[in-house]
Amino acid sequence: MKILITGGSGYVGSVLIPKLLNDGHKIINIDTQWFGNYLEKHKNLKNIKSDIKNINEIRFNNIECCIHLASIANDPMAELDKNLSWETSALNTHRLMEKLIKNKVKRIIYASSGSVYGISNKKKVTEDINLNPISLYNKVKMVTERVILSYSKEIDTFIIRPATVCGYSPRMRLDVTVNALTFSALHNKLIKVFGGKQIRPNIHIEDMCDIYRFFLKANKNKTGIYNAGFENKSIIDIAKLVKKNIPTKIKIIKDLNDPRSYRLDSSKLIKAGFKPNKVISDAVKDLKINYDKKILVNKLDFYSLKWLKKILKKIN
Ligand SMILES: NC(=O)c1ccc[n+]([C@@H]2O[C@H](COP(=O)([O-])OP(=O)(O)OC[C@H]3O[C@@H](n4cnc5c(N)ncnc54)[C@H](O)[C@@H]3O)[C@@H](O)[C@H]2O)c1
Repeated sequence: MKILITGGSGYVGSVLIPKLLNDGHKIINIDTQWFGNYLEKHKNLKNIKSDIKNINEIRFNNIECCIHLASIANDPMAELDKNLSWETSALNTHRLMEKLIKNKVKRIIYASSGSVYGISNKKKVTEDINLNPISLYNKVKMVTERVILSYSKEIDTFIIRPATVCGYSPRMRLDVTVNALTFSALHNKLIKVFGGKQIRPNIHIEDMCDIYRFFLKANKNKTGIYNAGFENKSIIDIAKLVKKNIPTKIKIIKDLNDPRSYRLDSSKLIKAGFKPNKVISDAVKDLKINYDKKILVNKLDFYSLKWLKKILKKIN
């Protein structure tokens, strides 16, 4: 199948694209490459370094599906330039959708976010509950979902609301919970936990990529919105789990720098036929192996917020 991926040079895309190439797919990846490009050359991979706002300049030929990952991908980054956040996701997604429809692309799979639920004390946060987005990032994701769903009569739409992803990728993100706590334990022998009681859902990067692969093949009667997260844990429990694998001190700081707290219930995804294969401790162990081999190193571009700040200074 010929697949268009947006944002494929990012953390998730850098693991997903090699898997799709291995499955025998042909890939066109459009990415601004803000965080570089760690994808190896392949005869079936075309990397286009561009903003999706220029989507109309790209020649489409027999593309059957689009996996839409491009986004400013966390809360503090979205706040850096609010207009850019709306433009990158909502407005550009509108342009992307028009182009997909015009070229008769049959399917779109969108990486939304489980954080659209904001703060929720419900034990079961299922796809049908009211959204309570509290940050700009959450609001942009919610609106972008709506933009895509408004085209659902013309294209099969699959909206995925992932938990926080964890595990090793060549384009590493050290700003997401499990990765950040694990790296801090490895590098500083210290984990600082802010608050700690906030509940966050998690998903291993391998399972995340397998969900996108699952929806490439899923029957069109399965279109809709799916939560994707399998382990709901408090931040302090994640820190303790890291400590089980890596000797470290844990320091609890009372300030709550990020109050988001929610669980994800992914029964709908499991019922549709997806089975997760990995758990958080697999991610912690993989990160340790890569750190010990000096493959995982401390690089500024692995801290998305600090890196994007630098890039935006250059652009503006
Ligand atoms: N990683 C997570 O924990 C997580 C959790 C929930 C949802 N998501 C969503 O999954 C998607 C992928 O996340 P990620 O962790 O790989 O993020 P990432 O920041 O590593 O990757 C995003 C990629 O999109 C590119 N990009 C941004 N704006 C662009 C534009 N206008 N045109 C072209 N390319 C652009 C960036 O250069 C980057 O390579 C994002 O939409 C994110 O919001 C991620």
